[in-house]
Amino acid sequence: MTATDPTAPAPRAPRSTVVAELRGATRIYQMGPTKVRALDGIDIQFLEGSYTAIMGASGSGKSTMLNILGCLDRPTDGQYILAGRDVSDLDDDNLSGERNRRLGFVFQAYNLIPHLTVLENVEVPMEYGGVSPGEARVRATRLAERMGLGDRLDHRPTELSGGQQQRVAIARALANDPVVLLADEPTGNLDSKTGLEILSLLDELHAQGRTLIIVTHDPKVAARADRTIHMLDGKVQRIEERAS
Ligand SMILES: Nc1ncnc2c1ncn2[C@@H]1O[C@H](COP(=O)(O)OP(=O)(O)O)[C@@H](O)[C@H]1O
Ligand SMILES: [Mg+2]
Repeated sequence: MTATDPTAPAPRAPRSTVVAELRGATRIYQMGPTKVRALDGIDIQFLEGSYTAIMGASGSGKSTMLNILGCLDRPTDGQYILAGRDVSDLDDDNLSGERNRRLGFVFQAYNLIPHLTVLENVEVPMEYGGVSPGEARVRATRLAERMGLGDRLDHRPTELSGGQQQRVAIARALANDPVVLLADEPTGNLDSKTGLEILSLLDELHAQGRTLIIVTHDPKVAARADRTIHMLDGKVQRIEERAS
């Protein structure tokens, strides 16, 4: 690892800094006459450099929480403070601005743009972020190489294996040096060996100081994190801390 490793986060404040915080965060879905409390008054903090797993039965609110943390959705009540800013009430444009500037998101189904090459996919967040095309190309190349895709830069997603596609997605998520990297079941579509490779990559990012939040149903995946939040019916049921 060098000072210019593009997968390493820029140096930031000391480790006890809270980078993301939910305060009484609630998300209600109105389904006709019925209200679904997908999240029910969540209070939780995420520290700089921490690695948190979110577990819980299907329907317990994991994705709803991750989507709010990822600025893909907002709480109907309560607050979300991201990097010191209350983003709970931002309009769609400002919310996607925050998402692009401060967050990286990795999905179970990779969600790459099919007609773009590996490099072009990794460049997308930088284009929106106002990085010059030349600089974006340099940075995307180094990120892709760092993810072991140096010989696949001009391939399209359909020409890649699942594990390779997920590595492109991780490179893309790191493009703007996010304060938090979020992943929703990132190994869910992969065979166990490939899944382990992706988890090792996430371990490396954590070791470099990146803040990670990962949703998983797999205890072996959660065991790599330094904390697991167990969800039940939209609430935090318990929090399990691990010595790291
Ligand atoms: N877009 C939506 N509209 C209505 N209800 C939803 C929507 N998304 C999720 N829900 C409901 O909110 C609850 C939590 O869902 P979700 O966060 O997806 O759970 P998990 O990811 O833990 O399986 C569930 O009862 C689900 O049916
Ligand atoms: Mg889910």
